[in-house]
Amino acid sequence: MMAMSLRPILLHPDPRLKKVCEPVAEITPELRRLADDMLETMYEAPGVGLAAPQVGVLQRLLVMDCVKEEGAAPRPMVLFNPEVTWVSDETNVYEEGCLSIPEHYADVERPAEVRVTWLDPDGKLREEHFDGLWSTCVQHEIDHLEGKLFIDYLKPLKRQMITRKMQKMKRELARP
Ligand code: NI
Repeated sequence: MMAMSLRPILLHPDPRLKKVCEPVAEITPELRRLADDMLETMYEAPGVGLAAPQVGVLQRLLVMDCVKEEGAAPRPMVLFNPEVTWVSDETNVYEEGCLSIPEHYADVERPAEVRVTWLDPDGKLREEHFDGLWSTCVQHEIDHLEGKLFIDYLKPLKRQMITRKMQKMKRELARP
């Protein structure tokens, strides 16, 4: 088994979290290695999804695993160049969080179901219909690739409050 390593997760506010990411032109061994590192980083956090810009790589790649049931087999997923091809009219509200905005949670309304296409690590085109937490998660992670965070859905006052608290947290973390 290839040795994996944890990648530091960028914290909001960070200009790299606001950038539109580039499509992946070729799935190289380095990018497959990055995907493995991102999965390890996500499981260790712990979280259910992680997008490449959160580890400072501005390319269209995300990983996720929303299996929550105790004792159930994990389902690590790696999505290169994911695209939403259909959304349901029906919406869902989930209390979302983000590994780049730790300790802050808020209700976000999104389409309840989506269809997504992507390339797997072997470069094979895949398509799947997602609902429940998987749907929320894949939409949240694809947003990251557009430089969009879940707090961007909140009212400005609430968003500013969270951003101020995160700035304070980052100052405290930077202190020796
Ligand atoms: Ni996030």
